Amino acid sequence: MLRELQLSLLVMLLLSCGFLFQLTRKSSCLFSCLPPDKSQQGLEALLGKGRSIVFLETSERMEPSPLVSCAVESAARVYPEQPVVFFMKGLSSPTPLPPNSTYPAFSLLSAIDNVFLVPLDMKSLFEDTPLSSWYTQVNASAESHWLHVSSDGARLAVIWKFGGVYLDTDIISIRPVPAGNFLAAQASRYSSNGAFGFGARHAFLWRCMENFVEHYDSGVWGRQGPDLMTRMLRVWCRLADFRRELGDLRCVDVSFLHPRRFYPIPFPEWRRYYEVWAPEEPSFNGSYALHLWNYMNREGKGVVRGSNTLAERLYRQHCPRTYRHLVRGPEPGVTGESGPGNK
Ligand SMILES: *[C@@H]1O[C@H](CO)[C@@H](O)[C@H](O)[C@H]1NC(C)=O
Ligand SMILES: *[C@@H]1O[C@H](CO)[C@@H](O)[C@H](O)[C@H]1NC(C)=O
Ligand SMILES: *[C@@H]1O[C@H](CO)[C@@H](O)[C@H](O)[C@H]1NC(C)=O
Repeated sequence: MLRELQLSLLVMLLLSCGFLFQLTRKSSCLFSCLPPDKSQQGLEALLGKGRSIVFLETSERMEPSPLVSCAVESAARVYPEQPVVFFMKGLSSPTPLPPNSTYPAFSLLSAIDNVFLVPLDMKSLFEDTPLSSWYTQVNASAESHWLHVSSDGARLAVIWKFGGVYLDTDIISIRPVPAGNFLAAQASRYSSNGAFGFGARHAFLWRCMENFVEHYDSGVWGRQGPDLMTRMLRVWCRLADFRRELGDLRCVDVSFLHPRRFYPIPFPEWRRYYEVWAPEEPSFNGSYALHLWNYMNREGKGVVRGSNTLAERLYRQHCPRTYRHLVRGPEPGVTGESGPGNK
């Protein structure tokens, strides 16, 4: 009995430590000047309302790239009333954090009011889900696509448990997704797993996790990812082609969103994001967010200050802090970064 009490106290202590870490990074004044929702505790409180926007970093990397920073910042702007929760594997490792100055993007994101950087503890995330047995048996160091596969599993588990919207870290949000339960089509009859939203404990995601384990084959890229979503969607309902311009499909209680909602520029043309568009740029007025296809970007293209590419314009408009601090660099004589936005 005493032992159990000790254990649960320990768990609570650990949880609140994680949260305190978050708070101390967030603000110089600890509790008093934080908005009320920030003083609640733990992951449950943060994610429990099922309205979170969730991002994942399954590598140990602690300093987000400019694109990752832009993805998180843009979501924080598009969903100002909702918590944007960025799970980072690196935060769960016991190594101490180096001084903040070496992590400008990390500092930038933690300073945004509705952004929460939290440790990604896969073991506890997979508990009570079909993925738990898989996770305890898998040998991560023998897996060829471990970062992807573990991310594929983690996103299913977190949205199944808490509900909310999952987004890849190379997606720039431009307007809120109106749909409740949704999957994003990458092409006709083909779903991505880079953006989806569900209420907590939705049966579709539970079946996806079961199927993940039953048909697990880590050698095939995407088998536990987009392929999984697509084959489960085919079981869920009969998929038709997208017909009308921008007509989303309805699949029982799940909206299957037109490719233009997230993928207005299809992957073979991913370089278009890093080109200058003349005479005019696309308006993306039918899109909710833009997937920049980072996994195609083996050349390491990025946003270059003053290059006037489409990506540069998107950064300036949708993630101005990231643009200012990580791309443009400090301007002499200009200090302070308040003003309209999400602070
Ligand atoms: C790092 O943290 C210290 C105090 O914790 C603060 O004075 C300093 O401004 C921070 N540096 C950056 C670059 O955020
Ligand atoms: C896991 O895989 C690595 C690399 O293939 C191997 O060296 C190691 O022995 C494996 N561990 C277990 C417990 O099987
Ligand atoms: C989107 O913009 C195009 C031109 O940029 C316009 O023709 C079209 O009507 C717009 N669609 C919506 C839904 O506003």
